[in-house]
Amino acid sequence: MDYLARIRAAWPGKVVVKGIVTREDAELCLKHGVDGIIVSNHGGRAEESLRPSIDSLVEVAGAVKGRIPVLVDGGFRRGTDIFKALALGATAVCVGRPYIWGLAAFGSRASRPCSTSCAANCQLVMRQAGTSSLARIDPSYVVDRRRAEAPDAPRAST
Ligand SMILES: Cc1cc2nc3c(=O)[nH]c(=O)nc-3n(C[C@H](O)[C@H](O)[C@H](O)COP(=O)(O)O)c2cc1C
Repeated sequence: MDYLARIRAAWPGKVVVKGIVTREDAELCLKHGVDGIIVSNHGGRAEESLRPSIDSLVEVAGAVKGRIPVLVDGGFRRGTDIFKALALGATAVCVGRPYIWGLAAFGSRASRPCSTSCAANCQLVMRQAGTSSLARIDPSYVVDRRRAEAPDAPRAST
C-alpha cells in the first residue's frame, strides 16, 4: 500500500484500484483516499483457484458501505448476473471477454450489440422482479442458499 500512497500523492485525478477481493484491502483503499474499487479476480487468469468475484463483492461492499463506488467483474454474462451483482452491492458491473469474443466473431460492429444485449437483458430481469429503478434492487432479491441451509454459520461479509 506504500505504492498506492505514492500514486495518490502524485496523481490529482481519480484513482480506481482493480483486483480488491477482501474487506481488509478495501479498508486500506479507503484509508488511502481511493475513489473507486473494482472487485476482480482478473477473470480467473491470475490463479486457478480464486473464489468467485460475486463472493468477494459481498465482503468488499460490506466494508465500503457506499462511501465510494464498488464495481465488479469476472464472469458476468447475463442480465441475471448483473442484477445479482447490483443486488449484492455493486455500483456497476464490468464485462471483459464477451466484447473480445464479439470482436473476433463479427468485428467492431459486435461491441455495441454486446453492451445493449446485456443492458436489455438486465432490464428484462428488473421488470420480472418488479424493480422500477436500479436503486430499488436490494439484497432481498438474492437468496443466499448457503445461509438458508446453515442459518447459524458465520458469515464473512457482515
Ligand atoms: C486476454 C486478457 C488479458 C488480461 N489482462 C489483464 C491485465 O493485464 N491486468 C488486469 O488487471 N486484468 C487483466 N485481464 C482481466 C480483465 O481486465 C478483466 O478483469 C476480466 O476479463 C473480467 O472478466 P470477464 O472477462 O469474465 O468479464 C485480462 C483478461 C483477458 C481475457
